Amino acid sequence: MTAQLNPRGDVAVLVPAAGAGVRLGPGAPKALRLLAGEPLLVHAVRRIAAAPSVHTVVVAAPAADVEAVRAMLAPVAPVTVVAGGAERQASVAAALGAVPAGPEIVLVHDAARALTPPGLVESVAAAVRAGHDAVIPVLPVVDTVKEVDAGERVLGTVDRAALRAVQTPQGFRRSVLTAAHEAAGDPLTDDAGLVEKLGVPVDCVPGSELALKITRPFDLALAEHLLATGA
Ligand code: CTP
Ligand code: MG
Repeated sequence: MTAQLNPRGDVAVLVPAAGAGVRLGPGAPKALRLLAGEPLLVHAVRRIAAAPSVHTVVVAAPAADVEAVRAMLAPVAPVTVVAGGAERQASVAAALGAVPAGPEIVLVHDAARALTPPGLVESVAAAVRAGHDAVIPVLPVVDTVKEVDAGERVLGTVDRAALRAVQTPQGFRRSVLTAAHEAAGDPLTDDAGLVEKLGVPVDCVPGSELALKITRPFDLALAEHLLATGA
């Protein structure tokens, strides 16, 4: 059954899904790789569409696969599919350009974070709604972190207490994300980074271990296990 999006919702979710998935190894573009028999992108969109504030979903697909992705997602949720670009930032910009008038909160969410719970979409959106211009979900860093030189000699130990690992969805007041992309220079892998360059404050909310980014084969195996145990 196709999930209905909320016509009274105030949130648009952009889903960059145009990456190759080089670190996952040879095969189809990562968003189209199967996890428990379904493409990662289907898992991701199903969870986004289950978040009650979501009005619009725009997916940036690999340029060669736009039609196939449209057909694949039609039974999942009503989504707009555009062609992505060579860098993640270009894919996000393409998706942002396809958001209709209406939603004033825009979230950017990696297709590769396929198991992200709908509740995280809601908590990021709620923080923007409450008045924050830019909001990112974060987790504490669990490993000790060292800075090293080119020869792998340790230069020092970074204070872990002040570090956070950043996930998506990242949420923005629409005008802030639009301004950040208009001002963007070198491609970054993170939209909040563009907003920081504008001097706009970025605030953190608690992330979720289920929002892990599927990057390497180990992550795919972990995600299979999490799904099998009820994620
Ligand atoms: N992405 C995108 N357009 C690009 C590059 C990345 O839309 N040109 C998307 C990916 O599809 C993914 C998200 O950005 O959902 C995060 O990127 P990453 O995890 O790095 O995915 P890939 O770029 O596909 O993986 P890799 O870097 O291993 O090739
Ligand atoms: Mg990448």
